[in-house]
Amino acid sequence: MIEVSVLGATGMVGQRFVELLANHPFFKIKALFASEKRKGEKYGETVQWFLSGDVPESVRNIRLSALSDSVQTKIVFSALPSSVAGEVETKLAESGHYVFSNASAHRYDRFVPIIVPEVNPEHFAAVDFQRTKGFIVTNPNCSTAGIVIPLKAIQNAFGLDSFIVFTMQALSGAGFPGVPSLGIYDNVIPYIENEEDKIKKETRKILGEFDGEFVPANFNVEARCNRVAVRDGHTEVLFIKTKNKPSLKELKTALREFYGAPQKLNLPTAPEQPIIVKDDKFRPQPILDRNSGKGMAITVGNIRESDIFDFTLTVLSHNTIRGAAGGSVLNAELLLKEGKLNV
Ligand SMILES: NC(=O)c1ccc[n+]([C@@H]2O[C@H](COP(=O)([O-])OP(=O)(O)OC[C@H]3O[C@@H](n4cnc5c(N)ncnc54)[C@H](OP(=O)(O)O)[C@@H]3O)[C@@H](O)[C@H]2O)c1
Repeated sequence: MIEVSVLGATGMVGQRFVELLANHPFFKIKALFASEKRKGEKYGETVQWFLSGDVPESVRNIRLSALSDSVQTKIVFSALPSSVAGEVETKLAESGHYVFSNASAHRYDRFVPIIVPEVNPEHFAAVDFQRTKGFIVTNPNCSTAGIVIPLKAIQNAFGLDSFIVFTMQALSGAGFPGVPSLGIYDNVIPYIENEEDKIKKETRKILGEFDGEFVPANFNVEARCNRVAVRDGHTEVLFIKTKNKPSLKELKTALREFYGAPQKLNLPTAPEQPIIVKDDKFRPQPILDRNSGKGMAITVGNIRESDIFDFTLTVLSHNTIRGAAGGSVLNAELLLKEGKLNV
């Protein structure tokens, strides 16, 4: 078993890391980090656990570390706020750690890849240019994570000319305590700070190429992001124009048959089918579909021809699993299985 640490372990994403790593076949949690105020406290006693079930037995008695403590494991999963992550993650990579980060702080750095293992595993090559003893690998912002897998399937099969995405994002995407209840109950908030720019930059980077430098994909993209009163699961409506318009049947087949390296290697966190296509026009729905493939599958439904674009479809993904901790763990599993981690 390979020992790992989790930074930001008491937050929304950190708790998902704990849940996913507590009984993992490759990794074992050695240390959990939170803010200075909790240093020395037992994880099980101080954490405000948001997930179903109890705090896993194996981590309950771990005493929390703070960032002033040294990190003892080579592999580090980071669920820190971006404002904190920037400097901390750089120092860790410089001192030889492999940092798998959920924060946006380094996503747009020259040689830091944003990886979705089914989509762009070849971008891992960028870490060789980081000039640090270790490296930083990021995964995308949660709304990008949900759409890049179907977009990649479409790009591969038909070419991607342009798309518009309209999001309905869950509350857990805003961390804890997140949006005040009186701000969101009976309401929709039609703007999420920086989210639209993140989608534009990240989809282009992920669906682009790396050849000594990142060459972003050159499709046009527009995004509108909304916060809705759903606990977990981002719903996103895509309007897509392809380069070679397929029939609806061809489109559904391309989505259903898409798979990547995690499925070939049968990685523990990989869903059997990365994209689940529903023919029922009333799906996907967050409460029915967010846990598909243990929160790692993307559900696509209500696929229709569009009068303005080629077609429109609705995509649902679990924002704190596929869109955060699960995506990071899958990145680490892939690198480990491919022999790219010296642990
Ligand atoms: N939520 C999502 O769906 C999602 C998806 C993708 C990416 N992300 C990204 O993942 C990261 C974590 O998000 P989150 O939603 O889990 O946030 P969160 O619920 O606010 O949790 C933040 C975590 O960081 C710790 N922390 C805060 N300030 C710290 C400091 N100065 N030093 C050390 N630890 C500190 C907190 O510890 P205490 O509890 O002790 O304060 C907590 O464990 C963010 O960068 C976010 O943008 C989130």
